[in-house]
Amino acid sequence: MSDGIDVGSPEEIEEGTARIVEPEESGFDEPIAVFHTETGCFFALNDICTHEEASLAEGWIEGETVECPLHSSSFDLRSGKVLGLPATEDARTHRVEVEDGRIVLYPGRDAEQAVRPSGPSAG
Ligand code: FES
Repeated sequence: MSDGIDVGSPEEIEEGTARIVEPEESGFDEPIAVFHTETGCFFALNDICTHEEASLAEGWIEGETVECPLHSSSFDLRSGKVLGLPATEDARTHRVEVEDGRIVLYPGRDAEQAVRPSGPSAG
């Protein structure tokens, strides 16, 4: 697909951290956080928490969840599902692939699965 954007190499986003892709870069109307989990997977969610104005990229990544830094709601990075109050609305997911050693984000396309940098991406 040609609508993906290159957001760096897997090494550029340290495990356990996230990179924010701003609307000017993605063409999507909201900032997107691309997360690199300690399990070696990449996921992307809308960066702004569904509860109030907090950046999920600044939250705590644990396994395949992220905890909001402001009021501690957690979100499932795979599905965007909210896992605890006070947020009640799921976060929007975006698809991320690792293609030719680059992280490629598909803004506005729902994620269905994680992609590992070293694994086969076909299928
Ligand atoms: S802003 Fe994220 S839980 Fe309140």
